[in-house]
Amino acid sequence: MGVFKTVFSVVRFEKLTLSRHKRRMNKAANIDDLRVIAKKRLPGGIFDYIDGGAEDEISLERNVAGYRNIEWQPRVLRDVSTLDTSASLFGRPMSMPLILGPTGFTRIASSQGELDVARAAQDAQLPYTLSTLSTRSIEEVAAASEGRKWFQVYVWKDRALVADMVHRAKECGYEALMLTVDTAVLGRRERDVRRGFTLPPKIGPSTIVDGILHPHWTLDFLRNEPVTFANIRKSSGDTAGSAVVLSSMIANQFDQALSWTDIEWLRSIWNGPIMLKGIQTVADAQLAVSHGVDAISISNHGGRQLDGAPVPIELIEPVVQETHGAIPVICDGGIRRGADIVKAIALGATACSIGRAYLYGLGADGQRGVTRSIEMLRSEMERTMQLCGVTAIDQITRNIIRVRHS
Ligand code: GLV
Repeated sequence: MGVFKTVFSVVRFEKLTLSRHKRRMNKAANIDDLRVIAKKRLPGGIFDYIDGGAEDEISLERNVAGYRNIEWQPRVLRDVSTLDTSASLFGRPMSMPLILGPTGFTRIASSQGELDVARAAQDAQLPYTLSTLSTRSIEEVAAASEGRKWFQVYVWKDRALVADMVHRAKECGYEALMLTVDTAVLGRRERDVRRGFTLPPKIGPSTIVDGILHPHWTLDFLRNEPVTFANIRKSSGDTAGSAVVLSSMIANQFDQALSWTDIEWLRSIWNGPIMLKGIQTVADAQLAVSHGVDAISISNHGGRQLDGAPVPIELIEPVVQETHGAIPVICDGGIRRGADIVKAIALGATACSIGRAYLYGLGADGQRGVTRSIEMLRSEMERTMQLCGVTAIDQITRNIIRVRHS
């Protein structure tokens, strides 16, 4: 009897969780674990659209690997008992130097889509950037979230359509515009080519099989209104949003003639901050400064556009040095750990932005999953700061890291 007593005194039965999905979510330890859960939940074509990159996926891989070349120079005995991760951008606060970046067609991951992401961002006190190619409209997102909201712009041939969206963003209290400059043509994502994947998703024989194998996603998809280009439908009649597929949309509407003079046009219709997303050289960063933009995002579109483009984390330091810190520099791409954010800040970035890192959470568990992604990054960032001996963002300097060259 004594033996049983001893055994019972040390055994703690976990509350029995019947849903296998819930058990998986409870055990998820990091962003990669959320990715694995999203992969199980989402049909293959959907997961690959989110997870994949252009051509050989060299940039996709290097974006993540780039952070691994950085080693800490941790300081000890520094009293790290109180910690403050708060930061600011455009004179307004955020709870940590992190932005939820724009992603197209977010509702393919979960039916509430951009609304879930915007709500999670508001809860976490972080800015959220709504994509031009969003599947919830500018107005719907504004109604769902009182948090900081930015609007991502693709400049289309039909400038009136762009001006209309910018106007709507202003009316709805969006704070800044983020002009994407790396998409003169769409990168070739070969996973999508092989699967014959289109956006919005089409129902065909292979999608039906995939749908049956992923019942949670399929029911969620079928029970909710069709996935459309929400912003376009709003302004150009009832069906335009649902009728187009991404490739033809880009071929027809994306303006390959876009150039630096268009920044002035954007300035003429918007009086708030303007950021450029997709700067990939020091020379263009300098041009951005001379054209008076308010911030730049060093980005290769998550490895989805030009394969073999520069790795964002490797470009931060030269860009900040050569532009003499004139404007905030955002590091976009490859963030999978809170430690990655600390590394980017140490190299001179003002903040980082994420796409896949929260989409994996969204695909895994809707708004809860996005919150989970953010909180994982937050606690990793806090722990890293404490172990490095720093307690505030302005203490994260070049001295706490070393770039390995081996
Ligand atoms: C859209 O911008 C995409 O990367 O798919």
